[in-house]
Amino acid sequence: MYYEPGVIPHGLKYDPFKSCVVPRPIGWISTLDRDGNHNLAPYSQFQNVTFDPPIVMFAANQDSKGVRKDSVRNAEDTGEFVWNMATWDLREAVNISAQELPRDVDEFERAGLEKLASRLVKPMRVKGSPIQFECTYLNTLRFPGNGVMGSADVVFGKVVAVHIADEVLDPDGLVDILKIRPIARMGYFDYTTVDSKFRMVIPGDQRALLGGLEGSPDKARAEAQTPG
Ligand SMILES: Cc1cc2nc3c(=O)[nH]c(=O)nc-3n(C[C@H](O)[C@H](O)[C@H](O)COP(=O)(O)O)c2cc1C
Repeated sequence: MYYEPGVIPHGLKYDPFKSCVVPRPIGWISTLDRDGNHNLAPYSQFQNVTFDPPIVMFAANQDSKGVRKDSVRNAEDTGEFVWNMATWDLREAVNISAQELPRDVDEFERAGLEKLASRLVKPMRVKGSPIQFECTYLNTLRFPGNGVMGSADVVFGKVVAVHIADEVLDPDGLVDILKIRPIARMGYFDYTTVDSKFRMVIPGDQRALLGGLEGSPDKARAEAQTPG
């Protein structure tokens, strides 16, 4: 089949677009508003953007009234947010924290979650989530969209502190993802969990490239050639 979004209909019962970009990691984002109210919400339009320094982004559509979402407003107003890893064990809490609630409702409490203080930023971390990033706000890209909810605010933040629970590091110091079982979004109301992995290394001995693939700033910097 073939379609052109907004031009040639797909003709299917359900729109396939979100099912084509899978699995999407979940940015479970905690923020504070200017009055100190806690906020927590999941964003599957989430990614790392680069690793040296580490930068992440989440993309928020508008709420059902066409208003910018709280996570965006809070990150912009306070200059900080925290990313929490969403796991199989925490899946129900992730879901509950997605409800569209008044600004002063604390989704940590609504979802029965305990808070952990952060070190460098004020928004709290989700206790029980095995990995959290403390982030400082960089900027927002806004894409005008169709309909009330279509416009997207893409928020970028620099990762200034990383917390990894000791029990999810294996004896070699690798993050044991299969132990964590992160959840990820697919299309429709479907999710998946990370339950398998395989290794593959780019052929050849291009060490800077491999340093980037591995996500090692030290190796990438040491092996890359200085321009000129
Ligand atoms: C797993 C999951 C992923 C979601 N991903 C997004 C997303 O990428 N962008 C978005 O605008 N809303 C997304 N939502 C909906 C938001 O979580 C929801 O609108 C929430 O109320 C926003 O809260 P906030 O206004 O406190 O930021 C997602 C919901 C779930 C359950």
